[in-house]
Amino acid sequence: MDPIAPPADDAFTWTRKHLLGLDDLSADEITYILDTAESFREVSTRSIKKVPALRGKVVANLFFEDSTRTRMSFTLAAQRLSADVLQFSAAGSSVKKGETLRDTARNIEAMGVDAVVIRHPQSGAPHMLARHLNASIINAGDGQHEHPTQGLLDVYTIRRRLGGVAGRKVGIVGDIAHSRVARSNILALRKLGAEVIVVGPPTLVPKAIESMGCTICHSLDEVLGELDVVNMLRIQFERISSSLFPSVREYSQRYGLNAQRLGRAKPDILVMHPGPINRGVEMTSDVADGPNSAILNQVTNGLAIRMAVLFLVNQEHRS
Ligand code: NCD
Repeated sequence: MDPIAPPADDAFTWTRKHLLGLDDLSADEITYILDTAESFREVSTRSIKKVPALRGKVVANLFFEDSTRTRMSFTLAAQRLSADVLQFSAAGSSVKKGETLRDTARNIEAMGVDAVVIRHPQSGAPHMLARHLNASIINAGDGQHEHPTQGLLDVYTIRRRLGGVAGRKVGIVGDIAHSRVARSNILALRKLGAEVIVVGPPTLVPKAIESMGCTICHSLDEVLGELDVVNMLRIQFERISSSLFPSVREYSQRYGLNAQRLGRAKPDILVMHPGPINRGVEMTSDVADGPNSAILNQVTNGLAIRMAVLFLVNQEHRS
């Protein structure tokens, strides 16, 4: 039996049944998830990469949008905890026959599911499921709203690579307007005490984002030299209805990272990207694959974060 357990912190008890977003999580709760992920990280380095923590539990992945990393990461995380995993994709399902999300989810739950991981183009879809299902609900990205496990894995990556998050200056660059990754990142970073500067053209950076406690800058060159971390977001072409910037070429000239621009940053700046990368748009390949890049660390860390989240929401001490 593996002695995997959350870190001993007598002052703290995890009580949440769902992970719907980072907005209502406290800094202590976020830190507790990161600490739990730290204890699960080691499992992936063993020759037998499995612990019995969720043996007998069933996790259903409900994906109504395309995904590579997030879906595989949740699947592997559940498998490493010894849960059974059901896979659902909207393509090829009865959704095509007109079934509602609520009906689809309740039917899947009727098979005895303990946790539902949902990605959906509609903001608030996971919250709706949380009202109608008994299972734990984990938001794997809802529209332009939140992507909490991405926010968590990003702050975890910063903590691991830089030794801490508080006081770090983090630039989030690009399509802030359409990005659930930006929102969850800003929430996690601000709660853990980082300074956040969002960078992009005015058409992609809504002024209202300042209310989340970050500052706005429209020139990457102006702020790059101050940053400890730069998180380059993908342009969400599938969510942009009108042309919000003159051309992709012009965008990457002003907001893309290449070796020359990176040369003006701090030498140990951490370069991040949630994936999938549009190589040549958000950054050139030499930067994406270079020594400052934490992009593959993010993916590795995402697995530990998702193991932690699946483990915690499946505990009995619930609110
Ligand atoms: C992101 C998503 O789907 O929100 N990808 C991911 O989960 N790693 C970001 C994106 O698609 O640009």
